[in-house]
This record gives sequence, structure tokens and C-alpha cells, in this order.
Amino acid sequence: MARLESLITIDDMREAARRALPRMLFDFVDGGAGDEATKHRNSAGFATYALMARALSGRESRDQSRTLFGRRIESPVLVAPTGSSGLLWPRGEAEVARACAKAGTIMTVSAGSTLSIEEIADAAPGPKWLQIFIYKDRGITRAFAERARASGYEALTLTVDCPLLGRRERDIRNGFTINPKLNLSTMLDAALHPGWWMRMARTPRVTFKNFEAYGGGGVVDMARYISTLIDPAVRWSDVAWLRSIWDGPLIIKGVLRGEDAVKALDSGCDAVQVSNHGGRQFDQTLGVIEALEEIVDAVAGRVPVLLDGGVRRGADVLKAIALGAHAVLIGRSHLWGLSVAGEAGVKHALDLLREEIDLAMAIGGFGSLDELDRSTVRRVPPLP
Ligand SMILES: Cc1cc2nc3c(=O)[nH]c(=O)nc-3n(C[C@H](O)[C@H](O)[C@H](O)COP(=O)(O)O)c2cc1C
Repeated sequence: MARLESLITIDDMREAARRALPRMLFDFVDGGAGDEATKHRNSAGFATYALMARALSGRESRDQSRTLFGRRIESPVLVAPTGSSGLLWPRGEAEVARACAKAGTIMTVSAGSTLSIEEIADAAPGPKWLQIFIYKDRGITRAFAERARASGYEALTLTVDCPLLGRRERDIRNGFTINPKLNLSTMLDAALHPGWWMRMARTPRVTFKNFEAYGGGGVVDMARYISTLIDPAVRWSDVAWLRSIWDGPLIIKGVLRGEDAVKALDSGCDAVQVSNHGGRQFDQTLGVIEALEEIVDAVAGRVPVLLDGGVRRGADVLKAIALGAHAVLIGRSHLWGLSVAGEAGVKHALDLLREEIDLAMAIGGFGSLDELDRSTVRRVPPLP
């Protein structure tokens, strides 16, 4: 197992995860839809802004805490929902929950988690949001909301950019399904990564616990089966319906247009999460940082704007905040940590970003995140 102290950036963690995971699992996490242009635009977009330091404004200490729906968090980096984390590390979601609780941040639990909503709630006391979809059978959505409330989840995140699963070509080429099929090539792939193999061999077969009651028993590709339960024809009136059955904060995830952000507010959402699903759904669309300003302007301070996609550096976080995001979420960056060292790896990824943010604030002359605004960034040509 890689020594965490030797992994000093998120990119180092990605490389360590590449070594630790079977190729098809690394590709499942790392890959995007189509040409992966959107995935690339997410990270490359941050390089089209430069941060502007303020001379002689240094502070003894910096405050990077944020408050969201009355809950104070230690850093502006939350964890985004990622399904199937239990394939990367045994009881993966419980490891993530403990790391988030220790780091003082919020975990968004995916509907497609391998542990149940209740097991993850019990794994650690920290604040959690539950990500859901609107299913053809609205009773499933209602049941998820009720279970979230009963288990103490503080908010619901409704994902709206996934009416159908995106075409992730690496997965198609690798013949990847969840659960992975056992054949010569997948067995060889696993055998070449004995650390992962031995950990997983001691764990019960991975399933999507939240869906055990909804059929699909015996299907080979359970992830695809679950995606067929999602209603591909959801409308804004369905968001208003969800609002009517959930009285806690409601976040809409997967919005890239200002007009949609306004519709989300009209439908009763309490936050807008600018996201393109890490480029895993709609290829050839905008990178998130390119979409952010239009949404911030449309929302006009009425609710917090969140952002996820391509965040790999503390400087990325500060750029998003300067452009009007209240906080950001990380998907792959925490999964690299999970893949390498479970809870300790996730905590390490969160710590690296917190330290990078603090150092950038110190050198840039910012005492708190509220001091960042559009004058803190300048548009620059992309690096060659
Ligand atoms: C392996 C994986 C699984 C994901 N599963 C979900 C999911 O179940 N629900 C969801 O709304 N988003 C899901 N996402 C998208 C993330 O929530 C987030 O939008 C994206 O990862 C952000 O981009 P980043 O990975 O570059 O940080 C998933 C992403 C990854 C990498």
C-alpha cells in the first residue's frame, strides 16, 4: 500500500489508485462519457483563471469555514455523491463517512451506495445529505426521502443530469458491469492487484443495498438495471412535488444554464449545484467553471450556489469561490483516497485540499473566504 505521506497532491493519489485498482475499476472512476471532452473541460477550465494576490494583506491565521443551511463546516470542500464506492474498498461508504466526520465536512451519500442509507448514517456521526433521483415509481423516491429523514440526513440532493446513463466508452471496452463479470480477463485484472483482491475477497458480495426491495435480483448488470428505474421524462413539476414531500433543504444537482437555475428556485430548491456529473453524462457540454458565472448571476444571492467537477487543487476551490460558488464538492478526488487507503486516504485527500487552500489564502492575502470576489480572479489564456 502506498505511504500516504508520499502522496502530496491529488494527482499523486490518482496515480497510486491507478496502481492499486484493477484497470476496469480505475477506468470506471476516471472515465467520462464519449470523447471525455467535458471531463477535460472541467479541470482545464480552472487554468483559464489566474488568482490575484493582495499585497501586504497577510494574516496570522485564516478562516476557510463555511455555513450551509445553518451547519458550520471546517472547509468549503464537501464530498459529492458517488455510487458503487464499495467496489473500491470494503464498506467504502462507511470509510468515507468516518473521514468526512473527522474532517468536519458534509458527505453526500449516493442513492447508488453499496451500503444502505441507514448503515452509512450509523457509520459516523457527521452531517450527511442524501442524493436521489425521481423514479418512474414515485413511491421509491418518497421512500428514500422518508428513510433519509428517519436516519437524520440533513438535506436531499436531486440529480437531474442522469435521465439515462451516459455512454462511458472505457467501460464498454473493458466489458465492465456492476457486479463485474468473472472471466479470464477480469480475473487476471484482479489478480494483478493482489492488495485489492485480498481486501475484497474477505467482504460479502457487493450489492446496492438501497434497491434490494425493488427487484433486479439475479441481473448481471445491477447498475444498469437500477438506472432503468429512473424516470427519463422528469419535469419541473416533479421537482415541485419533491419539494412538497420534503421539508428540509433541497439541492438540485446538474444545472448548467441560468434559466434552469431560476426554474429550480421557482420549484422551491434551496441550493443550485453546478455540475455535469464529472463529464460522465453529457459529453461536449460546458465545463463547470465556464457555467458558474451565468448561474451565480441568475440566482442573484437568493440561495447558495455549489459546484462540482474537476476540483484537484486548493487554488481551484478559491477560483470557484471567487466566481460566486459558496462551496465545492469532490468526486474522483476523494475516491482516489478511498482506493488507496480507505478512511485514511479520504481524510488525506480532504486534508491536502484544506492545506492548499490555507496556504493559497495566506500567500494571496485573504483572511476569510468572504474576501474573495470576482476581482480576485482574472481571465487568462489557457496554458499551452
Ligand atoms: C465513480 C463515480 C460515481 C458517481 N456516482 C454518482 C451518483 O450515484 N449520483 C450522482 O449524482 N453523481 C454521481 N457521480 C458524479 C459526482 O457526484 C460528481 O458530480 C463528479 O464526480 C464531480 O466531478 P469530479 O469527479 O471531477 O470531482 C459519480 C462520479 C463518479 C466518479
